[in-house]
Amino acid sequence: MAIKVVVGSQWGDEGKAKIVDYLTEEADIVVRFQGGANAGHTVVIGKEKFVFHLIPTGIIHPDKICIIGNGVVLDPAVLLDEKENLAGKGIRVEGRLLISENSHLVMPYHKLLDQVKEESKTGEKIGTTRRGIGPCYTDKAARMGIRAADLLDEELFRGKLTQNIQEKNEVFTKIYGREAIDGEKIFSEYREFGEMLRPFIADTSVFLDQAVKQGRSVLFEGAQGTLLDMDHGTYPFVTSSNTVAGGACAGSGIGPTQIDEVIGVTKAYTSRVGNGPFPTELKDTTGEKIREVGQEYGATTGRPRRCGWFDAIAVRLANRVNGLTSLAVTRLDVLDSFATINICTAYRYKGNTIEDMPADSKVLSQCEPVYETWDGWMCATPEARSMRQLPDAARAYLERIAELTQTKISIVSVGPSREQTIEL
Ligand code: GDP
Ligand code: IMO
Ligand code: MG
Repeated sequence: MAIKVVVGSQWGDEGKAKIVDYLTEEADIVVRFQGGANAGHTVVIGKEKFVFHLIPTGIIHPDKICIIGNGVVLDPAVLLDEKENLAGKGIRVEGRLLISENSHLVMPYHKLLDQVKEESKTGEKIGTTRRGIGPCYTDKAARMGIRAADLLDEELFRGKLTQNIQEKNEVFTKIYGREAIDGEKIFSEYREFGEMLRPFIADTSVFLDQAVKQGRSVLFEGAQGTLLDMDHGTYPFVTSSNTVAGGACAGSGIGPTQIDEVIGVTKAYTSRVGNGPFPTELKDTTGEKIREVGQEYGATTGRPRRCGWFDAIAVRLANRVNGLTSLAVTRLDVLDSFATINICTAYRYKGNTIEDMPADSKVLSQCEPVYETWDGWMCATPEARSMRQLPDAARAYLERIAELTQTKISIVSVGPSREQTIEL
């Protein structure tokens, strides 16, 4: 039995889903614990490509149980769509998917608020996915959110919805000068969702506790990445949840002492989608080459991802705040055709060298990366199945990443499919 948490060590899209899929082989249960449909998790199996936003990627494996924990903000329309898509591919979720009764629901007004708040920003926009994530977590913290279980009690649901609609309509009409929204339409739509979701809604904390006591293995599938964490990331250019490993406890109801391993997934370089500081970003042809070779386009919004060199300062922060037991380095193959490769080992800020990421985003945005330059390996790695089969220069690069981030590497990924994985 093992309880493992997989988190992103950078700004999301590190290839968490590929690593979770690989590790699911040895797990019984896969759990999402934070975020919502802002996540885009890609798994490639043979010629088939799956992109998940809400359902844990473990669902592809027959017989595995998947849980959407209390920390997730759930958009029922996205979930039901995902369920239908899976059914079309012959994957049934019935009896294998549990949704926490305490998970909060993303409502249409959350998505609209996400959009109008972004549009009305005078300063730099966050560049959210517009999936209603921030507004939904705002209501959760304000103790006016609507939870999955509320959908099952018509009277309770109507009361909570009415209160929310009244308040949101004040905001829409008086602050943003927009039309009021129709609460009745939302009521009937969500009542229908409630009936469709009824068989899946459960006390998942009790379920998990019993499963752990029975010795079953649990894998936690993080969404987003450490630098998008609400507390430890590049605030305010972050998402609205705790993406770090600690979030797995709060977002599922499992205790911290139960966790055996925390695996940080990191790209062999860095990418970011949305706005905010990114010291190693390459706004030149090298950055474009990484984007094109790596096909760095968002799995949720299709936006081009910003690309740059590996930032050891950032991943060392991830090691610290997650208590990583190891790193899974993905997309090594994307660097196959670069003659030289840079690693950021420190930042220069106002004439000083700093080796820890500054908490202030304004300071971070003024930091210049200090690089050390490594020889590229200039040969194809996607066929490598062991460290020995990797070129010497690639091995040396990986060793340097481990050294600088003060972790060990447990997995190296050299392509999107399951078999393109090297376990150390
Ligand atoms: P996630 O959000 O962290 O799960 O990552 P995404 O699915 O958003 O983006 C990662 C992308 O990289 C997906 O298209 C994966 O199929 C792909 N991928 C994962 N590992 C590798 C790898 O080692 N090499 C390459 N070339 N692609 C990979
Ligand atoms: P996965 O799980 C990459 C980014 C958005 C934006 C910021 C806030 O696929 O790694 P939000 O909609 O959450 O309020 O947006 O966070 N973001 C992600 N970037 N991968 C993700 O998820 C992301 N989820 C949110 O681009 O900058
Ligand atoms: Mg993604």
